[in-house]
Amino acid sequence: VSADRALRGDLEDRADALEALLVHEREATDAYLLTERVRSDDDVSNRDDFLGMVAHDVRNLLNLVMLGLETIQPPQRKKPPAYVSAGKVRIQRYVARMNRLIGDLVDVTSIDAGKLAVEPVEADAAALMAEATTTFQPAAREKGISLSAEIPEGAMLAVFDHDRMLQVFANLLANAIRFTPSGGLIAVRVERIRGALRFCVSDSGAGIPAAKLEAIFERFWQVGKDDRGGMGLGLYISKCIVEAHRGRIWAESKPGKGSELYFTLPIPSSRRRRSRGK
Ligand SMILES: Nc1ncnc2c1ncn2[C@@H]1O[C@H](COP(=O)(O)OP(=O)(O)O)[C@@H](O)[C@H]1O
Ligand SMILES: [Mg+2]
Repeated sequence: VSADRALRGDLEDRADALEALLVHEREATDAYLLTERVRSDDDVSNRDDFLGMVAHDVRNLLNLVMLGLETIQPPQRKKPPAYVSAGKVRIQRYVARMNRLIGDLVDVTSIDAGKLAVEPVEADAAALMAEATTTFQPAAREKGISLSAEIPEGAMLAVFDHDRMLQVFANLLANAIRFTPSGGLIAVRVERIRGALRFCVSDSGAGIPAAKLEAIFERFWQVGKDDRGGMGLGLYISKCIVEAHRGRIWAESKPGKGSELYFTLPIPSSRRRRSRGK
């Protein structure tokens, strides 16, 4: 019994010591945070550079994970058992998701610093639509959703940053697939309107409450508490990209009837004159 009491005493002593340590730790952290707060903009840009470096390294490692997965092969080129293939696919998805999360964080940091890289050049928007739709076809099919695109015949030339606009399409299509139940429909369209191309990604999914149609473009914003799988940055970044092209992005939705996400891409006036002359 006395050994028991001694042990208990010992445990209590240790708990006290730990508590004291934690108080100390907390004070140290508070002091650290205070000095952090009075730091200058220089440090913010250092922080951004630092984040950039970390993101770069993490991405390299993620690529190595992807490559490493490819080397997991049973001998004699036999087909791997189903659980191995399924496990591989799962890991690939997690890695892809991590890549996207890191990409989004880097983009938001760049936006804050006022230096989101957008390099518009003349390119074919119809081809871009086709590329985006093809990329998401497997994900839609897997969820039992029909994804269709009305790709116009012939080129639709506009001035845009291909990778950035693909990122916008990817955000909209990934959302549409996430918020549309199996058996649903997603359609991608484009129209020529005055001085611009107007794209639309529509879905037959959950829809967006009228009061939230603007809020969804704010950062870290999600309608439902369990709208997980993202951080609520996709539409915010998409808006910044579209506005960097002098376009506009907005959402329309009838409750229970799905959502329509629109964005425009202005056609430069020189190009408009040229195409009208044809
Ligand atoms: N097609 C859609 N249908 C229903 N809700 C949507 C749709 N697209 C976006 N939303 C709502 O807007 C929120 C923000 O979207 P987004 O910025 O892409 O962030 P995330 O995809 O990380 O949740 C989503 O969490 C969801 O609540
Ligand atoms: Mg999203």
